[in-house]
Amino acid sequence: MGRRASRLVGSRRGTRAGSLRGHPEGSLAGRRAQALARALAAWYEANARDLPWRRRRDPYAIWVSEIMLQQTRVEVVARRYEEFLTRFPTLADLARATPADVLAAWAGLGYYRRARSLHSAAQQIATRHGGRLPGSAAGLRLLPGFGAYTAGAVASIAFDEAVAAIDGNVERVLSRLLALDSDPSRGGAAAAVRAAAAALLAHARPSVLNQALMELGARVCTPRAPRCGVCPWARSCVARRSGVPETFPRRPPRPPSIAVACYAAVLREGDALLWRRRPQSAHNAGLWELPTTAWHAGPADPAHAQRTLAELSRELGARWTVGEPLATIYHSITRHRVTVVGHRVTVAGGRSTVTRGGDLRWATLDDAQALGLTAAARKLARKLPTLL
Ligand code: ADE
Repeated sequence: MGRRASRLVGSRRGTRAGSLRGHPEGSLAGRRAQALARALAAWYEANARDLPWRRRRDPYAIWVSEIMLQQTRVEVVARRYEEFLTRFPTLADLARATPADVLAAWAGLGYYRRARSLHSAAQQIATRHGGRLPGSAAGLRLLPGFGAYTAGAVASIAFDEAVAAIDGNVERVLSRLLALDSDPSRGGAAAAVRAAAAALLAHARPSVLNQALMELGARVCTPRAPRCGVCPWARSCVARRSGVPETFPRRPPRPPSIAVACYAAVLREGDALLWRRRPQSAHNAGLWELPTTAWHAGPADPAHAQRTLAELSRELGARWTVGEPLATIYHSITRHRVTVVGHRVTVAGGRSTVTRGGDLRWATLDDAQALGLTAAARKLARKLPTLL
C-alpha cells in the first residue's frame, strides 16, 4: 500500500469514519437511500448492456438465464441462451424432456447439477403449480436449484417483488459504498449488506435496482480495478474516499488449491473411441468422458498412470495395454487443480471385449459431443484429433 493510500485508510478509520456517524454501521438513512437508488437506476437505464435475457419478460426465460448465470460467465451465457430456449421454448417443453436431452443442451456450460435441478424444478412446476412459476421468492425457494440469490433475482426481475438478490458482486458494491470492515458474507457485515439492499429497494423498481447493482458490480465496481471515475455512486462511496477501494470487500484469504492428477484411456476402434458415463454418486454424475482413473494427490506421474490405467482395464473387463501419453489438460474443480493425461491404450481382442456395464459406449469425437461431456473431457477431446 502506498503512502497516500495508507494515510487515507488511516483517516477513514479515524475522522472519516464520522461520515457514517449517526447511523448504525452500514445503514442507509431514507433520503440517502433514495438519492442513491435513483442515481443507480438512471445510470442503469442509460448504460445497461443489451443482453438477450433482458429482452424477455417470460418468467421461465428469466429463470433459465439466472440458473445459467450462476456459474457461467455472461459472455458464454449470452452465446448459449437462445439456443437452449429454442430447444426448450416453454417450461412445459423442458418438463417433458428426458434428462439426457437436457444435459446435452447444457453441454459446455459446466456445473451440470444446475441442469438437473432446472429440469426437476420444471417437472414439479408442471405437476404441482399448473405449469406457472411461483410468483414470489418464498415460493421459488421451495424448488430445486433456488437459493436465496436466485429466488431473489427471479422474483425481482420477473415479478418486481421487492426482494434482494445478493451475490458476490452485490456484496462487493455495497461493502465499498459503506466501507464495511469485515467479510460481507458473514455476521454483522452481511446484515449491513442486506439492510442496505432493502433500503435501496424501497426507492426504485426492484427489477431495475437489482439488475443495476449486478451491472455496476460487473462493469464498474470490479474486483481489482474499480472504475470510480464513471461510477454513479462515486461521491457517496466511503471506500473510494479511503483511496483504496480495491481492498474492499474484506475477505479471509482463500485456502490454497490442491493439485491432483488422473489418467484417461484413449481406446480407439476405427473412427470411434470408448466413452464412459460417470456414476450417479460422483461429481459430474451422468456426463460422459473417456474412461478415467480416480484422482490422486500431487502431479501426474507415469508409474501411477501405468498402474491405475491397468486397474481400470480390469474393472471394465477390457484387457488393454497402456501405451504412451497423448495429451495433457489442466482443469479446475472447486479447490482442485486437476491434471488429466490421456494415454493411448490398445486391446488385442478388439472392441467386443469391452462391454462390461451399460455405461460404456463407442462414439466418434464428433458424436460424443452430443452425449454431454464433462468439461475436462471436452478439453481433452479438442486436443485428440491431431494426435490419433
Ligand atoms: N448475473 C446474474 N444475474 C444476472 C443478470 N440478470 N444480468 C447480468 N448478470 C447477471
